[in-house]
Amino acid sequence: MKLFPELQTHTFPIMRSSCAETIMEFSAGAYLFDGDCINLLNSIPSDSVALVISSPPYNIGKIYETRISLEAYLESFQSIFEQIKRILAPTGSICWQVGNYVKNGEVYPLDIYFYPIFKSLNLRLRNRIIWHFNHGLHARKRFSGRYETLLWFTKSDDYTFNLDSVRIPSKYPGKRHFKGPNKGKPSGNPLGKNPSDLWKLLEQEWKTCIWEIPNVKSNHPEKTEHPCQFPIELVERCVLALTNEAETVFDPFCGVGSALVAAVRHNRRGIGADKVSSYVDTAIERLHKLKDGTLRIRPLGKPIHKPSGNEKVSQIPLEWKK
Ligand SMILES: C[S@@+](CC[C@H](N)C(=O)[O-])C[C@H]1O[C@@H](n2cnc3c(N)ncnc32)[C@H](O)[C@@H]1O
Repeated sequence: MKLFPELQTHTFPIMRSSCAETIMEFSAGAYLFDGDCINLLNSIPSDSVALVISSPPYNIGKIYETRISLEAYLESFQSIFEQIKRILAPTGSICWQVGNYVKNGEVYPLDIYFYPIFKSLNLRLRNRIIWHFNHGLHARKRFSGRYETLLWFTKSDDYTFNLDSVRIPSKYPGKRHFKGPNKGKPSGNPLGKNPSDLWKLLEQEWKTCIWEIPNVKSNHPEKTEHPCQFPIELVERCVLALTNEAETVFDPFCGVGSALVAAVRHNRRGIGADKVSSYVDTAIERLHKLKDGTLRIRPLGKPIHKPSGNEKVSQIPLEWKK
């Protein structure tokens, strides 16, 4: 049985607004704000959000950003983080997913720069999760980058962590204790094992498809026009582990709304802001598809595709064989 069947219908309201104050009318479903997240943040009530999860712009010159100095970039988050801490519930969490800023070939891992800012707000780090994928640029003057990180902070020591909701199948469920009082009994957990702080999720498979079979790009179940969207599965794991039903999840840089899809799909409330209204259009479209059961989502925990070795792209080119 699939834990989260695809193509299932859902019932929830969807609200879109460019007036931040309308957030006060929002009580269920998904709320999308067209505009700068700081304007929305100022209107969100204190202690009201269970999880803030986001992948902010990395200042690397993507279509939706203008490159500035690293110092100015980090400084631009100061007031955002202060507001995020204010709106976070006492048992709440922040998941901040980032990669590298690169200047003149020198790499600046953004989590290293964000960490002291979060610490200065007295937030507590619970995990530095490595999100590993198998695609990307092939570097020539350094090793190719194949992971990004997700910093999970909590507001206090009393925080929500529903490990059982996100356990993954054990490799050896039949293992037994070989000594001690439990000798002979199964040593694992019947619900599976802790997924650990190394995550290999969807993007691996989807980018591989893009690179190796270019015309299947648009066939990927979750791909939209956004250049760097979250795999829904990545957000789902955080939503399920770090929030309870009916609580609120907020993505201040929500792009095409992956975090909101993950939230409402699991009966949480989702709030998102993006300053590019065409991304908000797509987010709304995805939420409507989720409602009517036509949004294709890779199921949580689906094994990553492994090439059989027979595919053309898996074989060594004839001209390389001596
Ligand atoms: C890395 S993308 C996030 C993508 C998102 N995780 C998804 O799954 O689609 C960052 C997004 O932040 C938006 N953005 C940049 N500055 C913003 C701001 N001040 N307020 C709101 N959105 C902003 C960009 O338009 C972009 O879509």
